[in-house]
Amino acid sequence: MLNPSHCHPLFGLAEPFHWVRVEGLNSEWVNFPSGELESMQILGISGSPREGGNTEIIINEALNVAQKEGAKTEFMRLSDYHLEPCVACGVCFKTKNCTIKDDHETIYQKIVNTDGLILGSPSYFQGVTAQMKTFIDRIGYLCLARGRTDFEGKVGGVIAVARRSGLSGTSNQMMMFLAATRIVIPRGEEFSRLVERKAMS
Ligand SMILES: Cc1cc2nc3c(=O)[nH]c(=O)nc-3n(C[C@H](O)[C@H](O)[C@H](O)COP(=O)(O)O)c2cc1C
Repeated sequence: MLNPSHCHPLFGLAEPFHWVRVEGLNSEWVNFPSGELESMQILGISGSPREGGNTEIIINEALNVAQKEGAKTEFMRLSDYHLEPCVACGVCFKTKNCTIKDDHETIYQKIVNTDGLILGSPSYFQGVTAQMKTFIDRIGYLCLARGRTDFEGKVGGVIAVARRSGLSGTSNQMMMFLAATRIVIPRGEEFSRLVERKAMS
C-alpha cells in the first residue's frame, strides 16, 4: 500500500513503513445498519503540506474503504487553501462571521455539507502541523461562535502519522476539534489496527 519513496527527505527511514502508526480512539461504537453508508458523504482533510505524503495516502485508504461501502467521498488538502491564523478579535461571537478574508467559509461549508469527517495530520514536534492547527482554531472557533450546532451529530475520526513520536499529542488536538464541535467520535481501534498492520507489511 505504501511506497518508501513517500518518506520525508529529512525524517524518513530507509526501512519501509515502520514509522507509520495510527492510534486507536476510546469512545463508543457507532453502528451503521448495512447499506446506510450508501447515502453518505465522507470528507477527508489532510493537514500535511506534503502532496502525496503519508498522511494523504492513509486518509485516502480510509476514504477508499468508505467508497467500497457505497459512500461518496471527497479529499482535500488544507495547503491548497488560503487560511490565516486566528487573531482573536472576538468579532465572530458578535456577528457570527469571521473578518479575515480567506477561504474559511468555503472550508466551513464543506463540513456543513458532509456526513462524516476524517482529519489527518503528521506529527510536527509532537503536535499537528501549522495548517491543521489553523484549521482547528479558525473553523472550530467559528462553529462555537455560531452556536456549536452546525456540525453536531456528524461522525468523525482522526489519523495521526509520525516517523517516531507524537501520535497522542497530534491525535488529541484533532479529537478536541471533533469533541468541541459536537461531532460524534466512533471507536476506531479495529480500523487503526488494520491500517497499522498494512503500514508495517
Ligand atoms: C517540521 C517537522 C517536524 C516533525 N516532527 C516530528 C516529531 O515530532 N515526531 C516524529 O515522529 N516525526 C516528526 N516529523 C516527521 C513527520 O511526522 C513524518 O515524516 C511524517 O510521515 C510526515 O507526514 P507526511 O508524509 O504526510 O507529510 C516532523 C517533520 C517535520 C517536517
